[in-house]
Amino acid sequence: MQARAGKTTALIIPDSRWPSVSFWFQKVSRPAQIIFTAALHLSLPTPTPPLSLPRRIGRLWPYFRHAKGGVLLAFVGTIVAALTEPAIPALLKALLDQGFSTDAFPLWMVPAALMGLFALRGVATFLSNYGLNHTATHGMVALRRAMFERLNLADLTLFAEQSASKLSNTLVYEVQSGTTVLVGALLTTVRTVLTIVALLGYLLYLNWQLTLIVLLLFPPLAWVMRLLSKRLYHIARSSQHATDELAYVVEENVLAHKMVRLHGAQQQQAERFEQLSSSLRRLAMKATIAGSAMTPLSQLLAAAALSAVIMVALWQSGSGATVGGFVGFVTAMLMLITPIRQLADIAGTITRGLVALERGLDLIEQTRAQPDGTHHAERTQGQIEFDQVSVRYAGKDGFALSQVTLSVRPGEVLALVGPSGSGKTTLVNLLPRFVEPHQGEVRLDGVPLPQWALPALRAQFAMVSQDVVMLNGTLAANVALGQAMDETRVLAALQSANLGELVDKLPQGVHSLVGHNATELSGGQRQRLAIARAIYKNAPILILDEATSALDNESERLVQDALARLMVGRTTLIIAHRLSTIEHADRVVVLADGRIVEQGSHAELLAANGLFARLKAQAQGRDSLEG
Ligand SMILES: Nc1ncnc2c1ncn2[C@@H]1O[C@H](COP(=O)(O)OP(=O)(O)O)[C@@H](O)[C@H]1O
Ligand SMILES: [Mg+2]
Repeated sequence: MQARAGKTTALIIPDSRWPSVSFWFQKVSRPAQIIFTAALHLSLPTPTPPLSLPRRIGRLWPYFRHAKGGVLLAFVGTIVAALTEPAIPALLKALLDQGFSTDAFPLWMVPAALMGLFALRGVATFLSNYGLNHTATHGMVALRRAMFERLNLADLTLFAEQSASKLSNTLVYEVQSGTTVLVGALLTTVRTVLTIVALLGYLLYLNWQLTLIVLLLFPPLAWVMRLLSKRLYHIARSSQHATDELAYVVEENVLAHKMVRLHGAQQQQAERFEQLSSSLRRLAMKATIAGSAMTPLSQLLAAAALSAVIMVALWQSGSGATVGGFVGFVTAMLMLITPIRQLADIAGTITRGLVALERGLDLIEQTRAQPDGTHHAERTQGQIEFDQVSVRYAGKDGFALSQVTLSVRPGEVLALVGPSGSGKTTLVNLLPRFVEPHQGEVRLDGVPLPQWALPALRAQFAMVSQDVVMLNGTLAANVALGQAMDETRVLAALQSANLGELVDKLPQGVHSLVGHNATELSGGQRQRLAIARAIYKNAPILILDEATSALDNESERLVQDALARLMVGRTTLIIAHRLSTIEHADRVVVLADGRIVEQGSHAELLAANGLFARLKAQAQGRDSLEG
């Protein structure tokens, strides 16, 4: 299998084709780049990468191990294919030495021997390709599975550190290209090493002195190869980085397409894209330069080898050497060039593949899973306590929440109000552990949150927030997300969320596709869909984070109505943007700068004439509670 062209990597090293034997002299573009390349790279730790090559490949092995039968098949196929190589010069030798002089063998043996040989070689090559790809594709599936699992269990800091495009690049593209490239390269390595060994063996058998002379020419190139591979490694890393940035620009421009148009920012964005695109091009050129710098040297070496052989052969011609022997020797020597060239490219190719795959491995090995507890409960009472909780976001100086102490009774409806940035969202995000406290403790039913098994903990909450996230599936699948699908319950939930009419209008009802993040629905419809999802989940604790703030009055009435039905019998934390939402709350907690500054009933707070009263006075007329 040939290294496939792909995004980052294809740019780095141009795919090289092997010269036909007859025109070898003009076409040997790489140095007689060393037989020893493979041996060198397989045995010596390259100075740049942190681990030696075998250990780097070893890191990957667990993912490929369960399909190792393919490797065995590939190996056997490759050995057989390699053994057929010296048979060609051997046949030539026999033909020249005996074929023309006597009736040594019948004519039909010529096609029989040649075709038999190539048939054997073809079958062997086919099987080795098949076997290796069997292992590779299985390994890729295993690797992707592990990455995706890790992605879904990862501590949430991962998503602050890595962009969506970078992560999807790692999971989707890098793994694919890395596996393809690496597997192709490994197969080539085995095949070429074996071919070289077989051909060399034949050469030694024909004329060992001559062979040793040829071999002497190779070692000086070893160190050049090391330099080359070191450089290629750095270039591959940089290209990977540049590709991520490029993908990120595309991601941003897709997400912000309306903003970009409205602000006429296309030119700026195009320049940004152009810059990254050009730097990627420069890296590709650097890689090409590194790869082709040795061409002249290689031609010189090839010429030296050939002239040495011809000279010695002519010199020995008096002493019983045959024409067939000479042709056999030169043919075998020329046949060595192709595998040697392939081997010379291999270091760079293996490096490319490894660099791509190691990104996936790093994701798996270095991404911390969120620590999990063991406490299970079917359904909590809904007793929530925040005990001296402080939260600080990475990279920020101040505290988003400081020393917040608050307890919520089962069944209570608690409203959180306060100026924007006062920490309301942070406070409710502590509950499903989307945010971890820096100090203090949060307890649910008296059990500290870290002691809860995460799935059990998260099953206790339904959340409706301002940003509604829908998956690209049917209406029903979105409502029943993560739960068993029960169509009657889905319909009931949609009805209860005031979406019955919408469903009736859709030709495929609940089985209609909502599209990419349900952008075909209106804001109010999306919001009600999120409420239907919360109704379906039927969790004991409800978190509403500005669920109605983005809506117009008509939608709001419908949403409000749906929310009222949803809140019945549940402990509810409601972050309210509008006055009407919190009038019926049992208690209002006022946050400012991450601290609780006031709490009490609506009436009590108005009477106290503090921040709440001020917010409310400001809000008169615009019906908004934010400062
Ligand atoms: N993911 C985050 N990373 C860093 N800082 C954040 C993050 N989320 C919120 N903050 C900061 O924490 C503070 C409280 O934010 P938030 O809880 O969203 O406030 P509210 O919901 O009351 O508007 C703000 O200063 C905000 O900038
Ligand atoms: Mg908020």
